[in-house]
Amino acid sequence: MAMMSRAKIIGTGSFVPQRILSNNELEIIVDTSDKWITRRTGIKERRISSKGRRETTTDLAAQASFKAMEMAGISAADLDMIIVGTVTPDRQFPSTGCMVQKAIGSSHAAAFDISAGCSGFLYALTMAHNGIRAQTSRLVLVLGVERLSTIINWQDRSTCVLLGDGAGAVVVASSQNGRGILSTHLQSDGTFWDLLYSSYERSCLPQSLACIDLKPFQLKMEGNRLFKHAVGCLSTIASKAMEENGLSSNDIALVVPHQANIRIILAMAKNLGIPMEKVYTNLDRYGNTSSASIPIALDEANRAGLIKDGDLILLVSFGAGLTWGATIIEWGD
Ligand code: ACO
Repeated sequence: MAMMSRAKIIGTGSFVPQRILSNNELEIIVDTSDKWITRRTGIKERRISSKGRRETTTDLAAQASFKAMEMAGISAADLDMIIVGTVTPDRQFPSTGCMVQKAIGSSHAAAFDISAGCSGFLYALTMAHNGIRAQTSRLVLVLGVERLSTIINWQDRSTCVLLGDGAGAVVVASSQNGRGILSTHLQSDGTFWDLLYSSYERSCLPQSLACIDLKPFQLKMEGNRLFKHAVGCLSTIASKAMEENGLSSNDIALVVPHQANIRIILAMAKNLGIPMEKVYTNLDRYGNTSSASIPIALDEANRAGLIKDGDLILLVSFGAGLTWGATIIEWGD
């Protein structure tokens, strides 16, 4: 029987909307302060998409895809699968995957979405990994994209300060030399689905945010309880991933975690015994972009030259569902 090949990331890309929404602006919209938001979350600003610009979920995803494909040196026609992690698609159907497929000019790929909360990207990456290992796919575009601004209750200070919009993409191909994705671990627990969900309700937009393409859904969250689950689940699954690869935290060159709250990331890093210098964060600039947070952060770290050939990278996520996951990658050609 032929040896299963590994899947490796050969290109990364990301794209965020132009409009920056600062903590100071939020002070005018709800009863909050830059001090509270910064101290409790680490977030200073986030991006929100504008209906006047080409910033739909599909648009953001397509722009991130072009960048990832350019780095990978491939064209959309080469793709045989497109997988999109998102909880904020432009339409209930068709999938964002199919809409992105048209936007980037890919004709024969199989395209679909995955709904796994903030873990959507790692769930999608796992599908790509499995497809390549089973040799049913050769070249896969994996995306995490969100427009959370469209489903936020802009009168709820406990959630509207946390979230933002953006997209990240990677191109995944078969590895010839053994480097690439070493393992993926995924887990869910639907017992706690009602800690974070969307319900069919209309919100009100303040005049200053009239640019937002508000949808008739509202995000509801029990932040306090989620916080505790997040720290526990992230730490446990990251430890399991390292252990099953025979690795210790010293072996990990860079952690790219889901960017929900700096206090969650600090607690996880402490539990894992990984110094914060080895943890990439950008939530001060983008807030929590759900499925998009890991691929945006990975792309930034990659383009900043923070990832070297042979480095072991840990991606770790937690989100609505509950869902969580960890992926370890040996980077490079
Ligand atoms: N500004 C000022 N005060 C606020 C704000 C705000 N924006 N939001 C809440 N408060 C108040 C509360 O009303 C409360 O006041 P009270 O003591 O008078 O009742 C006080 O601040 C403390 O509220 P807590 O909810 O206990 O604050 P906490 O320190 O837990 O921080 C937060 C809240 C930031 C939401 C935190 O719980 C959190 O990050 N939770 C996890 C969210 C998460 O993990 N999401 C990840 C998965 S989901 C996803 O990524 C989409």
